[in-house]
Amino acid sequence: MRVYNFAAGPSTLPLPVLEQAQRELLDYNGTGMSITEMSHRGKPFMAVNQEANSLLRELMNIPDDYSVLFVQGGATQQFAAVPLNLLKNGKADYILTGNFAAKAYEEGTKYGDMSIAASSKEDNYTYIPDMKKVTFREGIDYVHTTYNNTIFGTRYTELPKTDAVLVSDMSSCILSEVVNVKDFGLIYAGAQKNIAPAGLTIVIVRKDLLGNASPMCPVMLNYAVQDKNDSLYNTPPCFPIYMAMLVFKWIKSLGGVPAIQKINEEKAKLLYDFIDNSSFYTNNVNKKDRSLMNVPFVAPTEELNAKFVAEATANGLVSLKGHRLVGGMRASIYNAMPIEGVKALIDFMKKFETENR
Ligand SMILES: Cc1ncc(COP(=O)(O)O)c(C=O)c1O
Repeated sequence: MRVYNFAAGPSTLPLPVLEQAQRELLDYNGTGMSITEMSHRGKPFMAVNQEANSLLRELMNIPDDYSVLFVQGGATQQFAAVPLNLLKNGKADYILTGNFAAKAYEEGTKYGDMSIAASSKEDNYTYIPDMKKVTFREGIDYVHTTYNNTIFGTRYTELPKTDAVLVSDMSSCILSEVVNVKDFGLIYAGAQKNIAPAGLTIVIVRKDLLGNASPMCPVMLNYAVQDKNDSLYNTPPCFPIYMAMLVFKWIKSLGGVPAIQKINEEKAKLLYDFIDNSSFYTNNVNKKDRSLMNVPFVAPTEELNAKFVAEATANGLVSLKGHRLVGGMRASIYNAMPIEGVKALIDFMKKFETENR
């Protein structure tokens, strides 16, 4: 029996995609072998690579002067790749809105003069700093943001006011809502939440930013090299790229990103409204900054939090334990979580509240 899986990542994938992958596992498209068994230089895989790239461009409306790269190493690798590729003047500003933003900043400090332009750390990252008030240093090469904060359940609703290149880690929100790619010089995302199994990282980068990598940039992290080789400089993560292609097709079949955004807004509203109307559960995030993808909440005591997670699991609602930095529970409701899953969670929350008041 399939459960409703609220894991923050790796995460639930769309059932029709998993079923198609299962059907094609032994014989991909009449080749007599699985996509995982064939050369990445052969026609069938090259076509998959190309199609995944075109579909992502179509779904996100990515302009022609941007490259789409499929790389490895996770979003964490990008914490280094970004400064190694983008620093020309040797300095950049970071906005700290969570644990991953802080890690990106720390990694960045190995490569240049990095500064924290704003941070919500003192309030355990329960809000996004007011972008109207954040200022940046002169002559910086980029501003780094984390668009959706997976652990703390916040998301930007307004972008920094800057002429510098805007970089955003969209690991936990890519393809969940419409974004204007032109607002960004570079977007990156680990695929394992909204796109595919772990192993694939997406980089969307404006082409004029390519070609300035530091001489010490490892070849695998050099965007210009990946771009020139259609992301096939070495053996790519073939299976995650194939799965990404299937997920992109699935999103397209639902009506694209605007359609999935509407569903995501509906799912998030159901859950937040329920929490806000309850005197038992609490979500501590500033309302304006609430994530559409990751919803942290707590019951009145630590004991009840633990009991909630255990009983939810027994009822087929799994991976609801919150991150250790926040505690309590967290429901990750990515694109592939059906609205029925959110309704089942709310029904369970009601029952649990009645039994434990
Ligand atoms: C916003 C964000 N950035 C970065 C990461 C780290 O990603 P990876 O494990 O792909 O390196 C995560 C992982 O959960 C994340 O949520």
